[in-house]
Parts: sequence; structure tokens; C-alpha cells
Amino acid sequence: MKKVGIIGVGEYLPKNVLTNADLERKVDTSDEWIITRTGIKTRRLVSKGQAASDLGINAAKKALKDAGLAAEELDLIIVATITPDMQFPSTACFVQQGLKAVNAVCFDVSAACAGFVYALVVAQQFIAVGTYKNALIIGSEVLSTITDWKDRNTCVLFGDGAGAAVLVPVKSGGILSTVLGSDGRLNELLQLPAGGSRNPATHKSVEERLHYIKMRGNELFKLAVKLMAGAAQDALKLAGLECKDIDWVIPHQANIRILMSMAKKLDLPVEKIYLNIDKYGNMSSASTATALCEAVKSKSIKKGDIVLLDAFGGGLVWGACVIKW
Ligand code: COA
Repeated sequence: MKKVGIIGVGEYLPKNVLTNADLERKVDTSDEWIITRTGIKTRRLVSKGQAASDLGINAAKKALKDAGLAAEELDLIIVATITPDMQFPSTACFVQQGLKAVNAVCFDVSAACAGFVYALVVAQQFIAVGTYKNALIIGSEVLSTITDWKDRNTCVLFGDGAGAAVLVPVKSGGILSTVLGSDGRLNELLQLPAGGSRNPATHKSVEERLHYIKMRGNELFKLAVKLMAGAAQDALKLAGLECKDIDWVIPHQANIRILMSMAKKLDLPVEKIYLNIDKYGNMSSASTATALCEAVKSKSIKKGDIVLLDAFGGGLVWGACVIKW
């Protein structure tokens, strides 16, 4: 089996900024409540007509440039998204078209907020066994299109964005361990009830606002802390490392209090957790992807660092991955 590492990263955040003050004018909320309960100050929103592949293509171009790879050289494109351009074709195929990555095999993965970690693990398998010699993975979301802007319980949380990474075989370091988990029994805690084959779109489904995210936040909160901490511990154990060996945690960014509780559970200094939730809110699969990109570009992550990706989302699904940078 070949070792696999990340050689390029890129991100794209749409330019429209939605502040907490803007939300105060839409629903019964306050800047103070949102900051203290979630850590979010602003989030980005797409311009009209911008879809997940548009964001993903922009992030991918930067990641390819960073990796020094031409689009035609790509073997595999995996897009993690819960807001695909269409039910089908896959958003990965739209990305392929946009990049002119004519030689790539393309598909999407559906693993909600853990999607980027899932995509990374899938890509790693293909490269490790030698099926493909490289892969582009993207987490791209336009959550603003599935957010109920009349529901204060959810609309303050989400934002739009995309992040991408290029994976290839490496001689040393790279991905040291991966852990994935799922528990479908808890699917009702976080769902988009309509628009699929269970509840196809009807006038009634639209009237009942079933095409928007439904979330039982309080129950998810406790599970997120438990499952993200557990995944971190399992991935570290598999890599033969301990919490004290971690230089950076790049987590899914659902709520700053989830991350602070996780740090406490792991006895991990909070300064080691890379945060961008204040700027972008929860962008599902794009949160981990953009945080990784920012941490690399800002030179927070340095060569040789031990980096832990850790994510959790609707499904339920979770995943963690230890990388030696
Ligand atoms: N502004 C003001 N008040 C709000 C509000 C808002 N935007 N949203 C909810 N509230 C109110 C509630 O109505 C409730 O009022 P009540 O006590 O009068 O009923 C009160 O605040 C507390 O609500 P609660 O849901 O207990 O708040 P919380 O501290 O659990 O915070 C979340 C809510 C959603 C921020 C938090 O539960 C969370 O982040 N959960 C996890 C989310 C998650 O992991 N999502 C998926 C991961 S991918």
C-alpha cells in the first residue's frame, strides 16, 4: 500500500457577507445570543445563480495550482456536498466540466458535515492501492438554499463556501490513520425531509417548509462532543500517537462550544484548534476543507506537524484522520 498525502489546498468563499446584525432584522435573535451560543459573527452567501460546483471549481483551481498539477492530469474528482447543483448529474461531473479535467473519474459522496473527511478516506483508498495516481477532493456547500430564513433555531448557523485538496502518493508522512463511523438510527436529528424519493416536491411539502434543514440542536450538541472526541482518540490510537502529539486540530465548525467541550474532554489546549466559525459559520463539508486550507496558507500548519481532521454530521456520521504534514 502506498502512503498518501495532501500536496495542494484551495478555498473559495463567496463575497456577500451576512452579519448577525442583518439576521436581527430577519428573525427574533441578537448578536449577543448568536456569538455567545455559537461563536459565529458573520457568514458568506452566494450570489444569485451560484451553485456548489461554481464554488468548488474556484477552490479546486487554487488547489491544483498549489499542487502544481494540470486539470487534465487528474485521475479522480470526489465532491462532498449536501447541496449538489442537481440531484443528478453529480456535482463532481459539473466540476470536471468546469476544470476541463477530461481524464478524471467523478462522483459525489453524501456524508453531510463529515463529507470532506469521508471524501479524503475514499480518495486515499484508490491511491493507496494504485488504482489512481492522484485525486482532487472538494467540500462545497450552498447551505443558504436549504436554510429556513424564518427559523431562528437554524438560520443563524449556516453559510456557503468551498475547500479543496489534492492527494498523491508520498514517500514519507502523509495520512497516518483514518476512522469513519455512522449511526443511521439517529437520522431524525438532522435532516432535509423533502425533495428526495421519500417526499418528492409537492405544493404541500413547500408550504410545510420541508425543503429546509430540520435540526434537533440540543441533542446533537452532546453527541457531537462525544463522537468527535471519540473519533479523535481512535484515530490517534491507530496512528500510535497521543493527544499531546497533536499540533493542529482542523475540526468541523458547527459551534464553538462543541469544540471547547471536545478540547476539555481530550485535555487538549484550545489554541491547537483551528477556528474559522466566527467568519463563516457552519458550512457543512466545506468547514473542515476551508479550515485546512486557511491553516496551511497562513503557515499555522508547518512541515512535519501532526494534524487531526475531525468531523461530525447528519446521518449521523463522523470521521477523523491523522496526517503528518
Ligand atoms: N436567537 C435567540 N434565541 C434563540 C435562537 C436564536 N437564534 N435560537 C434558539 N433560541 C432560543 C430557543 O428558542 C430557546 O428558548 P426557550 O428556552 O425560551 O425555549 C433558547 O434559545 C435555548 O435554546 P437551545 O436550543 O437549548 O439553545 P442551545 O444552547 O442548545 O443552542 C444551538 C442552540 C443550535 C446553537 C446548539 O444546540 C448547537 O449548536 N447544537 C449543535 C448543532 C450541530 O451540531 N449541528 C449539526 C452539526 S453538523
